[in-house]
Amino acid sequence: MNKRYELPGSVAASAFWMPFTANRQFKAAPRLLARAEGMYYWTADGRQVLDGQAGLWCVNAGHCRPRIVEAVQKQVAQMDFAPTFNMGHPAAFEFADRLARIAPERFSRVFFTNSGSESADTALKIALAYHRARGEGQRFRLIGRERGYHGVGFGGVSVGGLVNNRRMFPTLPAVDHLSHTHQPALNAFSVGQPEHGADLADELERLANLHGGETIAAVIVEPVAGSGGVLPPPKGYLERLRALCDKHGILLIFDEVITGFGRTGAPFAAQRLGVTPDIMTTAKGVTNGVVPMGAVFVNRQIHDAFMQGPPEAIEFFHGYTYSGHPVACAAGLATLDIYAREGLLTRALELEGVFAEALHGLRDAPHVTDIRNFGLMGAIDLAPRPGKPGGRGYDMLVGALGRGALVRASGDTLAFSPPLIVSEAQIGELFETVRTVLASID
Ligand SMILES: Cc1ncc(COP(=O)(O)O)c(C=O)c1O
Repeated sequence: MNKRYELPGSVAASAFWMPFTANRQFKAAPRLLARAEGMYYWTADGRQVLDGQAGLWCVNAGHCRPRIVEAVQKQVAQMDFAPTFNMGHPAAFEFADRLARIAPERFSRVFFTNSGSESADTALKIALAYHRARGEGQRFRLIGRERGYHGVGFGGVSVGGLVNNRRMFPTLPAVDHLSHTHQPALNAFSVGQPEHGADLADELERLANLHGGETIAAVIVEPVAGSGGVLPPPKGYLERLRALCDKHGILLIFDEVITGFGRTGAPFAAQRLGVTPDIMTTAKGVTNGVVPMGAVFVNRQIHDAFMQGPPEAIEFFHGYTYSGHPVACAAGLATLDIYAREGLLTRALELEGVFAEALHGLRDAPHVTDIRNFGLMGAIDLAPRPGKPGGRGYDMLVGALGRGALVRASGDTLAFSPPLIVSEAQIGELFETVRTVLASID
């Protein structure tokens, strides 16, 4: 137990049921963050920690940016909340318009949510309802991918491909999955997109033959899988998926909750990878993580398919109390200003080489079995301890924190996604810390 991180005696740690956390282990030795600025957190006991994971893949412009803080303060004092069901407020329209301007050209319509999970479920519903609106209601099947993560709603879990998120819950019927693209036997230590695996996209053809392509509404994939272990798409894979979707009239949804807002070196991975989906889901970096928000982008054709019937009829029976929340919009508008002024939506491209070199420099470090990278996303797979999977990953998290770096461990995979303001020196520092800790664990 580490005394230094203890909660004040008056606070019962038991009340907060923590998400995606080993609660008992955590509460026996809490790791508490108390303050943040720029590239750093400070722990509750005052130690500075380099943020190697942008909070949780979301703080792309770095922490506590004054422009965002002021915008939020101003908005919350002026109008704390306004409904967007049958009412509106200017910031929601302005933010949607500004977002459409940085998205690939076709994405001119934006539906606001509050999280990546809600964005995924919203996108799936849009896809199903779109086909129905066009008289193709027989398209009710959804295709996801193994190792995909689309949040924790029932829709997202159903199309997602992480077994621990699925095994306890019933999932939607009429869902199938493509294979994941992680092929270490062929692609281990690939720098950027791996050479092998484009043919895995052809599984969509197999599923179309199995189920009838005319029954499939949509395929959803992360252009670069994030939570499943940073899996960049094999060269040519997304192009083939796009072509097969076109062939069968299937909508292609890119879940850009992590890859959106500059993470891959372009505003969206769709732009970086040169493949345009039909629907894009986002969250996280849309407000720099400051206020929860998500946004689903669709093209005009999809949007307009809903705009039928009498003008007084609601076109899409879907939405959230906080869709387009004024405080989130204020945070998002200020975030876009920072992204634009500081060139952050393309900065990952400039840093990618330095990042990749430092990351892949750990190839010879103890326990390392694979390393992957794309933009400012990176992962290191560690060999699991026999009979104790996740043990090394956890020790890395704790060890790195002790040495002043926040590193995400998911099982025995370490994931890296520093804020896009990171300096070259800080990249070096981050991976030097990882090297030291790797050498210190058994
Ligand atoms: C690709 C992707 N989709 C959806 C989500 C879920 O987002 P949230 O936790 O905001 O619901 C995440 C979260 O990491 C994600 O990475």
